[in-house]
Amino acid sequence: GKDHRLARISSSIRVIPDFPKPGIMFQDITTLLLDHKAFRDTIDIFVERYREKNISIVAGIEARGFIFGPPIALAIGAKFVPMRKPKKLPGEVISEEYALEYGTDKMEMHVGAVQPGDRALVIDDLIATGGTLCAAVRLIERAGAEVVECACVIELPELKGRERLGDRPVFVLVKG
Ligand code: PRP
Repeated sequence: GKDHRLARISSSIRVIPDFPKPGIMFQDITTLLLDHKAFRDTIDIFVERYREKNISIVAGIEARGFIFGPPIALAIGAKFVPMRKPKKLPGEVISEEYALEYGTDKMEMHVGAVQPGDRALVIDDLIATGGTLCAAVRLIERAGAEVVECACVIELPELKGRERLGDRPVFVLVKG
């Protein structure tokens, strides 16, 4: 059943204290990727949820959204669109700034990759403050498309990232 799958997924994620700096408990999904059953179950749960939802775009956030996004896109018959750090995409881009703990970062998307009428799923490994997902949502909505849902493997609920997403639904498998 689903609960059994979620328990395995949860226990396959390694938590590394004080990375990348003191006080941060890093949620490391590379150990999930080493457990082929947990990795497959992760993809299966997302595919079961999104296959009948008329999703035309799976937008994956650099870097770990590039791991979970493509197998989901292939399975549900959607396009995969990479949402990248600045100056990585070669074509014309639109960009959105988002706040970091100190300073800001930027996310970029190719012009024309997402079009009016597209129905997008945004995928990443983790939602913390929600700033990263929020930037991705803004890019997709600026392109005239609808964000059907945001999906992550892990949520850090204490950081209340969901509140940043307004009424756009956020689906997560496990909480850290
Ligand atoms: C992590 C994570 C999310 C983001 C979530 O990425 O993979 O993309 O932080 O944080 P937020 O909800 O507070 O915005 P990271 O910044 O480590 O970048 P990376 O994927 O390039 O390593």
